[in-house]
Amino acid sequence: MAVFRIKVNGTQHRINVAPDTPLLWVLRDSLGLTGTKYGCGVGVCGACTIHDGKEALRSCQLAIADASGKSFVTIEGLSETGNHPCQRAWLEEDVSQCGYCQAGMIMTAAALLQKKPNPSDAEIDDAMSDSVCRCGTYLRMRRAIHRAASEAREL
Ligand code: FES
Ligand code: FES
Repeated sequence: MAVFRIKVNGTQHRINVAPDTPLLWVLRDSLGLTGTKYGCGVGVCGACTIHDGKEALRSCQLAIADASGKSFVTIEGLSETGNHPCQRAWLEEDVSQCGYCQAGMIMTAAALLQKKPNPSDAEIDDAMSDSVCRCGTYLRMRRAIHRAASEAREL
């Protein structure tokens, strides 16, 4: 065990865990931020996606020893009141089915829009296709991302 410091959603934390503990488990078990989900644990499903600066990051793939001293944003910190353009668009387009993958999908989409404010269908599909939705909500997600992009441009 060792002590590590990370900033999550603007708050500094001291975490006492084994150095190889994945950041995902620190978020969920140590900090109680259970919006970030465990899907595969090997970096292929996207359920654990958070933000590292403007980049989408798979939190199951980063050990706390490598995360120490860095800042992260989880779905709980994406907006103050759940009103990020992606979150609003997700509700307006009624995207979620079971919901399990959706926090990771929204974080992936939000990172895409930070880089590409007006993405094409192909750019959306390219960004989202590495994340797995077993309920097959990809077409509704695409519509929601276009809506979020449009609403964000009007702000
Ligand atoms: S749980 Fe991290 S990519 Fe699947
Ligand atoms: S909404 Fe069920 S897995 Fe995506």
